[in-house]
Amino acid sequence: MDTDLSLRGAQAIIRLYSDFKCLIACDKSEDLLRWRPPQNKRFENLHKNNIIKLLVADIETGISFHDYVESVDKIVARNVLYQVDDKMEALRNIYKTLKPGGAAAILFWLDNPLGTWGNRMLSTRKWSRYVDRSKPVPQYFPPKFKEHSYWAEMKDLGCRDVHIITQSIPCSYSSDEECRDELVKIFDEIFNIPPEQRRI
Ligand SMILES: C[S@@+](CC[C@H](N)C(=O)[O-])C[C@H]1O[C@@H](n2cnc3c(N)ncnc32)[C@H](O)[C@@H]1O
Repeated sequence: MDTDLSLRGAQAIIRLYSDFKCLIACDKSEDLLRWRPPQNKRFENLHKNNIIKLLVADIETGISFHDYVESVDKIVARNVLYQVDDKMEALRNIYKTLKPGGAAAILFWLDNPLGTWGNRMLSTRKWSRYVDRSKPVPQYFPPKFKEHSYWAEMKDLGCRDVHIITQSIPCSYSSDEECRDELVKIFDEIFNIPPEQRRI
């Protein structure tokens, strides 16, 4: 049994592999799990036959994971942990869910200036009143520890082979305008700014 913490990930897994017995796509947002990959017959069939299951579950609290303790062969969590405040607790829940001999692949940001910028905007009174509350506001929780602590936690939990790869991907733009347009795109997803307040 494989668990992927999202539907996009599940889509990628079914494209790459054909021989899994069960794939669980998890997200804490029920709305997100209502989304379906467009015109993907294979996904629809696997879902109809209960080979792909959708699970509303919170990796941080472990709620809804209870039925899966020590029962999952592989877990993939891509770009989920940066939205989780207590990453150590999430790692513990991932470990608890794995079968003995299972494996997890976890990718998250150790630092992201765009996330820090978003947090600043959300906490600034001038802008926070324009937050579009009809949509989930993406959260960014910067890690509280250096990468080695996450490695040590996985080792302490009992993981045999823990490999960490840290990569620096510079956020660079060819001009101020390009940078501004990128920030506006992020901004527009979160805020409803009245036209008269916009000066670009
Ligand atoms: C940036 S998306 C990444 C989705 C997907 N893994 C991908 O790579 O495209 C982050 C997802 O993590 C989910 N998420 C955030 N906190 C979570 C938690 N505590 N438990 C489970 N899912 C969570 C959010 O609802 C969101 O759908």
